[in-house]
Amino acid sequence: MEIAKDIYNVGVNDYNVKLFESQYPLENGMAYNSYLIIDEKIALLDTVEKDLKDEWLNNIKCILKERKIDYLIIHHMEPDHSSNILSIVNEYKDITIVATSKAFSMMKNFFDNEFLDQRIVIKDNDELNLGKHTLKFFLAPMVHWPEVMMSYEKESKTLFSSDAFGKFGTNDLKEDWEDEARRYYYGIIGKYGKQVQLVFKKLEGLDIATIASLHGPILNENLDKYFNYYKLWSNLEEEEKGAVIVYASIYGHTDEAAYYLFNKLNEKGYKAKTINLVKEDIFKAVSDAFCYSTIIIATVTYNNDILPKMKMFINMLKERNYQNRNVGVIENGSWAPNANNVIKSMLSSSLNINYLEPVVTLNSVLKDNNKNQIDNLVNNIIKEER
Ligand code: FEO
Repeated sequence: MEIAKDIYNVGVNDYNVKLFESQYPLENGMAYNSYLIIDEKIALLDTVEKDLKDEWLNNIKCILKERKIDYLIIHHMEPDHSSNILSIVNEYKDITIVATSKAFSMMKNFFDNEFLDQRIVIKDNDELNLGKHTLKFFLAPMVHWPEVMMSYEKESKTLFSSDAFGKFGTNDLKEDWEDEARRYYYGIIGKYGKQVQLVFKKLEGLDIATIASLHGPILNENLDKYFNYYKLWSNLEEEEKGAVIVYASIYGHTDEAAYYLFNKLNEKGYKAKTINLVKEDIFKAVSDAFCYSTIIIATVTYNNDILPKMKMFINMLKERNYQNRNVGVIENGSWAPNANNVIKSMLSSSLNINYLEPVVTLNSVLKDNNKNQIDNLVNNIIKEER
């Protein structure tokens, strides 16, 4: 696909993959983008997952015909983009690899090959002229690995953004960008919001017409929308007033309390949604926790602790610097409910958490006194909306 004059996406959709990075569930596959710039000099930007090599090489050759690639530009060394470096180097013996110093160190680790002879080591603001097209490079450490860089092609005004602005799903899906981009962002890049902002500072003033990520569709309309989402996400700001009720139950009684709360919030016209952590995608729960102003954590006590999957969920929030939100707790315990203590201890280092009263404590099943507690919690959720 030509994304701008003489710039092609030669990447591949993987319709079969079910888990990205062995952990993120994929309902609709994944796209691995790679770009080819045809000019006096020819540049290939990144490679694809190792299993997708044949289709990708075929895409490249369909465009190149008999011409040779002059530069292989590596924006990111994670294997979903770098696995096929040797496939290209072995085929185009005179190729020059263009990457950051850290990326070259990683190549040595991955391939036991230093690529010493023909390489260009990129520093911030370096440029590479291909003829009509010129790439300007911006180091983007920790978005999402330390060696990452982005590049801006001046003629077409294209930002090659590496993992940033990517999403889950193949590129031929007809779906809005934001839900799967949010789940991707908070799962993969979310810990590094400050680093995202540092890169955006470097990009200020660029006239960007197209964003070409290593995953997901080419973005070339209404780009403010995508930058605004990334500003919110990297600042850990809520997107919507509302509550996500994340619950984990063993025998269904904690579920019942979670649904009682959900229905009461609905009756009052307050936006709410539920996630059954035992059955649903934990990364969807993480991205919803950051999306909404309020989270209600409903869990059974287990071994004087909480259910392992709920523990993993709260740890994922902490890793991603969860802060500035309202948090309510529904705990359950047949003889020694302790989930509230565990949750608050786990979140003790999170900044500006506003705990909602009352803590709802079930002793096994949902009783009238619990319903009264939840009714009060509902009033406080609505009152505390910030
Ligand atoms: Fe798509 Fe960080 O790799």
